[in-house]
Amino acid sequence: MRLDLNATLIFSDDVEPAKDKIKECLEESNRDLLKRGVPEDVEDGGANVRAHSIEKENLHLHIISDRYVRAHDALLRLKKQLNQELGPEFHVGVRDVDIEDYIIELELERLPKREEDLKLPFVERLEFEDDMCSMSLSSLSEERLAKNYVDRIINRLREKIEAQYYEGKEEKWELLFKSEKKDMVWREDPTEVMDDRGWIKRGPTKGKWFYRPEAAKILKTLERIAVEEVLKPLGFEEVIESMMVPFDVWIDTGHMEGIPNEAYYVAEPSTRNPDEWAEIIDEIKITKEVPLEKLDEMTDTPKAGICYAQCPVIYWSLRNETISDDSLPLLLYEDTVPSTRYESGGRHGIERVDEFHRVEPVYIGTKEQLTKLKDSLIERYTYVFDEILDIEWRMAKVEPFYLQQAGGEREEEEADLGTIDFEAYLPYRGSREDSEWLEFGNLSIFRKYTESFNIKGQTEKLLSGCTGIGIERWATAFLAQKGIDAEKWPEGFREHFGDMPKGIELL
Ligand code: SER
Ligand code: ZN
Repeated sequence: MRLDLNATLIFSDDVEPAKDKIKECLEESNRDLLKRGVPEDVEDGGANVRAHSIEKENLHLHIISDRYVRAHDALLRLKKQLNQELGPEFHVGVRDVDIEDYIIELELERLPKREEDLKLPFVERLEFEDDMCSMSLSSLSEERLAKNYVDRIINRLREKIEAQYYEGKEEKWELLFKSEKKDMVWREDPTEVMDDRGWIKRGPTKGKWFYRPEAAKILKTLERIAVEEVLKPLGFEEVIESMMVPFDVWIDTGHMEGIPNEAYYVAEPSTRNPDEWAEIIDEIKITKEVPLEKLDEMTDTPKAGICYAQCPVIYWSLRNETISDDSLPLLLYEDTVPSTRYESGGRHGIERVDEFHRVEPVYIGTKEQLTKLKDSLIERYTYVFDEILDIEWRMAKVEPFYLQQAGGEREEEEADLGTIDFEAYLPYRGSREDSEWLEFGNLSIFRKYTESFNIKGQTEKLLSGCTGIGIERWATAFLAQKGIDAEKWPEGFREHFGDMPKGIELL
């Protein structure tokens, strides 16, 4: 990597009288200050001021460097050093930093497939030759340099190039377990049949459902089974969170960069003062419609989204905390907040919707505690799927979910970490072999979130994870295999379910 920076330090006063001192200071820095951090076995490494010129209060610097002391870091070091050396004698200090141009040449593992798709903020020009990329940066201020934008620009570029190679590649999927084959009661799509019977109703907005008593009881029974048969026996305790997630939380989980196109956003009223709403209220009273343009003016730009998964806010609740050894492993679950995802074209039935209900358990503990917990969770799930729901299911190791949701880098997870999916066969989709099975649950362990939320233990480093229990997904898996006639349901489920509600007769 070669970094080539032209910048000007603008002092509070004329520095021409200090020109000898400046020259001396720059020469000395070239020998020492700009070499600090270079490994011993690297010859001639670090940054180097190649040229400088002084004009009144401006000190222009041309700095060339390698990756050990990046040119912009060198500039910030020099600013500090010059302030210290010139301050007492010449009574001047750096008042402003002007970055004129910054060209970075870096080696790439491989060339991009499509250069035109690599537009990035702050990157004015990108050129590729052999395995080298030359990029010219603009609009960088001192603050942006100090905040490490340059590294992030470089990382983002590499990430985008790598992503071009992953497109269309099969996602990781490795079968871990397969249940016995089960007899299927029917081959219908349960959503369609429930819709016909009036157990569910589409809407009121797109990708949402209204569950009438029969369907609601099926969903609520599955939720209760998950809590009573999986979570309670393992010691999970219930929490209640907010459904609105401020952006800083999604920045820390990565959702803000991973799924900004799928989030629902929340807008606050720009004022609560009723007088300022009078006009819009009058218009609504008269037209019986909402004047959308006016409403737009009366609401703020969103600064939060609606829950996409419950785990981010649970992590937020523990941000920067140290958890006592006695509380470990911490076993929590959230069961009150629905999740929303803007699905657009992908919607289908009750299993792929814009709003769904999920019990989300989150666990935090040492690696040993969590790998043990993972086994216990799988054991409890197996009991429920086999003995209570009696469904045909399988378990596969897949890409860690944050790769899909949270813009994470593709890196190999340690063997025990990562994500497992639970999948169920849906007979209405076709044969076991050729149809896509439904992911109706998942289970993950990560390092990512305890690190990004700075959640610490007293003695050991902590990991975390979550296991999504999507109620509509459980319902689809169960009903697609077992039908919607209660008499044909397995004994175990019937016991938990009790009697079918009377429902609503519509004429
Ligand atoms: N947070 C995980 C997911 O969204 C588990 O629910 O898939
Ligand atoms: Zn989660």
